[in-house]
Amino acid sequence: MEIKILKDENEIGAACGQFFVDYINANPKCVLGFATGATPVPTYNYIVDAYNNKKVSLKEISTFNLDEYCDIPKEHKNSYWYFMRENLFGKVDVNYDNVDFLNGNADTEAESARYAKAIADKGGIDVQILGIGRNGHIAFNEPSDEFTDEAWKVTLTQSTIDANSKYFDDIPMPHYAVTMGIGSIMRSKKIILIATGDSKAEAVKAMIKGPVTPQCPASILQQHNDVVIYLDEAAAALL
Ligand code: PGA
Repeated sequence: MEIKILKDENEIGAACGQFFVDYINANPKCVLGFATGATPVPTYNYIVDAYNNKKVSLKEISTFNLDEYCDIPKEHKNSYWYFMRENLFGKVDVNYDNVDFLNGNADTEAESARYAKAIADKGGIDVQILGIGRNGHIAFNEPSDEFTDEAWKVTLTQSTIDANSKYFDDIPMPHYAVTMGIGSIMRSKKIILIATGDSKAEAVKAMIKGPVTPQCPASILQQHNDVVIYLDEAAAALL
């Protein structure tokens, strides 16, 4: 694991954003794995600024996203599909034919197989961006007794519901989601994980210094050979 500690989320957004701009310019047909949540937004803002300044084009990239809620329509303002459109895809020249998402309202087994094949058909994910939950989850892989492989349907924990229900104002937050499994995430060629804020400090410590255990799903990243972890000073405070 390569660990980079920067001052705050803006410095991290600039560093990660520039990494993606350079990567896309060097590999215009790359396959990128995107994440939702508050953490990657400064990175996405940086990419959008670079696009507006004609420093990068996303028109040939292919994308996959980590997870999606069940039981809400794709077009609902709290879906992750909507989040990506609002925060990145709708602001750049991405080709929606090359944007793939887990469908939270499909038969999970068939959808998991479809997603695995779609990723494999593109040659795998070149770079996957990740956040981390306060409980050590990556994507929606919550602490459990085993590491999962391909995409699956998860019952969200109270910790995740507490963290995310503030975004839901017209409907109750769903209690189920579909998520890429730990195996699918680990097959990404490169992984960039970002953690900011003191609420992530315990999970960051367990991920980096603790044992590899499904009780802290992010700890599996210790076994990946190309992971870069960007932390702000608050998230790195317990290292
Ligand atoms: P956040 O979520 O970026 O909104 O903190 C990260 C995560 O739960 O993976």
